[in-house]
Amino acid sequence: MTLEKLLPSLRSSLPHPIEPWLWPASTHHLPAGDLSVGGVSLMRIVAEHGSGTQVIDIGEFRARADEFRHAFYDADVSYASKALLTQAVCRWVEDAGLRLDVCSAGELFVARRANFPMDRISLHGNAKSTDLLRTAMPAGIGRIIVDSVDELDQLAELAFGQGRQKIMLRVIPGVDAGTHPAIATGIEGQKFGLSLLDGSVDRAVTKILNHPQLELSGLHCHLGSQISNAEPFVRAAGTMVAEMARIQSRFGVTLPELDLGGGFSIAYRGGEVPLSISETAADIRHAVRNACDRHMIRPPRLAVEPGRSIAGPAGITIYQVVTVKHSGDRRWVMVNGGMADNPRPCLYGAGYTARLLGRLSGANEEHLTIAGQHCESGDVLIADALLPEDIHPGDLLVVPATGAYHHSMASNYNMTPRQPLIGVENGTVRTLVRRETMSELTRREVGDR
Ligand SMILES: Cc1ncc(COP(=O)(O)O)c(C=O)c1O
Repeated sequence: MTLEKLLPSLRSSLPHPIEPWLWPASTHHLPAGDLSVGGVSLMRIVAEHGSGTQVIDIGEFRARADEFRHAFYDADVSYASKALLTQAVCRWVEDAGLRLDVCSAGELFVARRANFPMDRISLHGNAKSTDLLRTAMPAGIGRIIVDSVDELDQLAELAFGQGRQKIMLRVIPGVDAGTHPAIATGIEGQKFGLSLLDGSVDRAVTKILNHPQLELSGLHCHLGSQISNAEPFVRAAGTMVAEMARIQSRFGVTLPELDLGGGFSIAYRGGEVPLSISETAADIRHAVRNACDRHMIRPPRLAVEPGRSIAGPAGITIYQVVTVKHSGDRRWVMVNGGMADNPRPCLYGAGYTARLLGRLSGANEEHLTIAGQHCESGDVLIADALLPEDIHPGDLLVVPATGAYHHSMASNYNMTPRQPLIGVENGTVRTLVRRETMSELTRREVGDR
């Protein structure tokens, strides 16, 4: 029995503990239910920028990038920019000595605007346009991760007259990482990669080896996201090395690089434990070395592509409660945000947690549903949140682990202006992306009839 349970009145003076893994390491309590992140009061952010606001702890992002660089000290770490990308993010990634992955013309555009070194960028995508390849290749893109045999025909044509272009082949290792089907990418029957079962890898290797300007630097795979143990990576390492050995014996080429993709899990709810980066790095290193010994090939240089595990835990989102009402067997809390700023619950059934911000409550806690403001019954941000039963309109809620696939996946659904992205670091506040304005919603329209 805790003191809090014996004396319920104490509850109002005891803020909820800050759960490990969920919040940026800099998070601590301030008086009156406020929290400090990156040395900045979240209530100050609300006062200056309003609610319906995303905050990123720049120090946390940098620390996580450093953690990857140290854990994978003998490998290349490429930040998957789809998780969160702005020009400032490019700078943090470059400062940390990481490479950058892009998978669209827009991501490449932002990286180039930020002067990210082109030779440290890898270009992904299952449907790269000729225009995109035409921009990337002469600009000196580091690697192109080829996703189909057709793409090679396009590349072969464009490569003539250019310098040598490094190519990696994305293959399907047939490893089910146990993730949500919408984010499982290491198995047959989804859209990414070349099958190891139907001869397409051999056709692709032949095309590359026959082209003087294309250089096959290695194999790539990406198993999925939110992978919560090292075992799928270990299995993939074995399959990939076996395939490299097969290519070596069939074509007489040694492939110097092996990229095992991203997908390192993070915590979204209390009690969840993220994948240990250092332990996973050690397990992968060991698996690659063993497989290379077994197949008697030279160990390739390893690469990984984390996105979520660098950006995710660095972000939080602040909402305001607009309405509280009953529906069915529970109360629903409606906030000034939803599927337009966080589509992940709708897309993948992703779970989150929320806490009250800006006041302490001594009330009992209740299981509530937090819904968004959009015109979809599926617009539920948190199906089951535990919050004080005295929650009321005007309260502020803060949701952790929103640094990845939030800002980057946000939409204007229901003509909703997109939220700002506010950076905090060492007690300073920087607007990285300002709030979208109403007038921007019609900016692309051409005429009114
Ligand atoms: C090819 C590739 N690499 C890396 C990533 C990053 O994954 P995560 O953000 O889960 O680490 C993705 C995500 O979809 C991806 O498709």
